[in-house]
Amino acid sequence: MHELKAKKIPSDKTEDLLRRQEAARRPAAAEKEKAQRARGKLLARDRIDALLDQDSFEETDLLVETRSEAFEDGRKPPPGDGVVAGFGRINGRPVCVYSQDFTVMGGSLGLAHAEKICKVMDLAIKALCPVIGICDSGGARIQEGVEALGGYAEIFERNVRASGVIPQISAILGPCAGGAVYSPALTDFVFMVEGTSHMFITGPDVVKQATGEEPEFETLGGAKLHSEKSGVCHFTAGSEHDCFRQIRELLEYLPQSARDVPKAPIPTDSPRRESALLDAIAASDPRKPYSIREVVREIADGRQFFETQAAFAKNIVVGFARLNGQVIGIVANNSEHLSGALDIDASEKAGRFVRFCDAFNIPLLTLVDVPGYWPGLDQESRGIIRRGAKLLYAYCEATVPRITVILKKAYGGAYDVMNSKHIRGDLSFAWPSAEIAVMGPAAAVEILRRRELKAAADPQKLRAKLTDEYVRNFASPFHAASRGYVDEVIEARLTRPRLIRAFQFLKNKRATAVARKHGNMPL
Ligand code: HXC
Repeated sequence: MHELKAKKIPSDKTEDLLRRQEAARRPAAAEKEKAQRARGKLLARDRIDALLDQDSFEETDLLVETRSEAFEDGRKPPPGDGVVAGFGRINGRPVCVYSQDFTVMGGSLGLAHAEKICKVMDLAIKALCPVIGICDSGGARIQEGVEALGGYAEIFERNVRASGVIPQISAILGPCAGGAVYSPALTDFVFMVEGTSHMFITGPDVVKQATGEEPEFETLGGAKLHSEKSGVCHFTAGSEHDCFRQIRELLEYLPQSARDVPKAPIPTDSPRRESALLDAIAASDPRKPYSIREVVREIADGRQFFETQAAFAKNIVVGFARLNGQVIGIVANNSEHLSGALDIDASEKAGRFVRFCDAFNIPLLTLVDVPGYWPGLDQESRGIIRRGAKLLYAYCEATVPRITVILKKAYGGAYDVMNSKHIRGDLSFAWPSAEIAVMGPAAAVEILRRRELKAAADPQKLRAKLTDEYVRNFASPFHAASRGYVDEVIEARLTRPRLIRAFQFLKNKRATAVARKHGNMPL
């Protein structure tokens, strides 16, 4: 199609506008831009261009200026106030975006800067589309004092107001210090780039003054720390372009808002595809770990699994996949780490994921192979009771379609928690290899038959016999199936086709929560 371009009629006023726009678009001296690039960082505008669909960015507030009188004339921030904001498209769908400009006073946040961010957040809430914040900032602009602090608070309040209404994504592409980290922390997904992104409440200098420790930027708040240990970061990237590619991919699994459902492309994978590998995994030694990601890929369309927080709490795996085109969220115990037991980090990671999926109408598939809660002084003293309860709370509260497959172990309280029928899971399947019991055979025999074992001439032989009996009587799916706690014991190879039919059946599920202001989740 030919673009129709209107003929330009020269006017002083238009020339003036263009001059102002041009100046606002290049607010920093060339050496500042050079320094930014020298650190391997893109400029604020280039980041937006790299993230959004080509030529889709519509800027707002380009000419906004600070109203603060704290600056001497020459030191006043330029028009735009150090942040680029507006709306555009990703994969053809509307999004709002803002990008802090480190070349302007270190991307520090003054009141006008904060107001620009608040404005695009308000627009996103009204237009019901995702909002993406690109953070690269020295935090509250020192010269603007309490106005800067107030500006941050207004952003936080909007983050909370938008929570569960529209997806919120933060890309940390530079420093993010002080209370400023709480805006990303309140959003749904945090991305960081290895080597250049840092998040901390107090920087290395303050830490040194307060505690005497001398941490490096990287150890105090780098991508590795936050993706592996603290759990603050959901995705890490090798470069900014890689980060933007991942954000675009993530958005393909998300709806535009809580009033919407994720896009369901026409599926290319057969809904009847069976898997011999799943049969082999079901038949393997229950004490031998296997790849749960491989199980997920065998089930998912095109063997694709978009995992989040992959490096944190590795004993549980969470992420998105498609089943016959429909997006689902997957929560799965991972026998390769801590034998797949639940601990504090796993409960918090999976609990938050379940709540995200529930808020945004994404059905949940739970794959269970869990020997119980991870025991020990460390977990008890750090609050496994209070913090472990978060996953239980999240499942009990979730009203999206919820299906469980018990692959192998489902022991103790962890059986209840991992989306059992008893907490209103909609459908529960089990492989023939499932073992549903209060505890594993070895521990149970030791407790129930202690006296006999002590008195036995050959305790080893008796132990083996009793364990074998226990496995036959308790460690199977059949007792649970006889009570209807498992809806169907299925051949492992048929997992994908059975799940596709079950999720298809539940598509129109409507469940309403009890009317109340809000529950009191154990935070
Ligand atoms: C005003 C700031 C600034 C700030 C940086 N600059 N941070 N200006 N307010 N908070 C300015 C610098 O003066 C400098 O200006 C330019 O930005 C680049 O900063 P440099 O220090 O030269 O860059 P670099 O060496 O890369 O260090 C970046 C940095 C460092 C790590 C971010 O600037 C820094 O530690 N800043 C302070 C971080 C911080 O503690 N912020 C306050 C957190 S409290 P010139 O003119 O020389 O180019 C907070 C409260 C949040 O944010 C409120 C929520 C409750």
